[in-house]
Amino acid sequence: MKRILKGLILLFIFSFILISCGDGDEKKEKEKIKIGTKKETKKITDKNVSKKETIDLSNKGVGPIISIQLSETIDEARVVKGIEVYKIKCAICHKIGKIFIGPPPNGILERRSPEWIMNMILNPEEMVIKDPIAKQLLWDYKGSPMANQNLTEEEARNILEYFRTLK
Ligand code: HEC
Repeated sequence: MKRILKGLILLFIFSFILISCGDGDEKKEKEKIKIGTKKETKKITDKNVSKKETIDLSNKGVGPIISIQLSETIDEARVVKGIEVYKIKCAICHKIGKIFIGPPPNGILERRSPEWIMNMILNPEEMVIKDPIAKQLLWDYKGSPMANQNLTEEEARNILEYFRTLK
């Protein structure tokens, strides 16, 4: 009789331990889920702020443009031509003053060199593979690539002049 009682007590203790272990695992699972959500929220906020992006004005990018000399004053004739092309070939993805499919071009000359901007317009396919900033951008914009709109160097230069007026 005593033995049976002992056995029963042992069984009781054993199952108690099992149950509490199970509980622990569940708690751990819940914690994991919580941590997961936290990380995701952080990522989204980082992207929206997007102030942490790399700024390297010595980076000229990869492509046909090696060096550009910007005049001190803005060339208004170029700006007018730039706006025309921009409206037709860029505004589908870029909005002034806010993030759309691509980033807003406002203040871009404070973030990128003029050569980099033109190479990005004329040679985006190679840029997103070889250039560190363009690679990061592709990542930030969830893999939607900057489209090559087959502009001439002259057209790209006019758009660059237009971008100089966007603060
Ligand atoms: C199909 C959509 C699309 C079109 C059309 C498009 N772009 Fe983009 N562009 C993007 C996306 C998306 C990015 C950011 C991701 C990347 O670079 O891969 C980008 C990035 C850029 C950048 C770099 C921005 C930065 O903050 O560094 C410049 C400059 C740019 N585009 C200029 C232009 C110009 C000029 C045109 C028109 C000739 C144009 N884009 C047409 C989608 C587009």
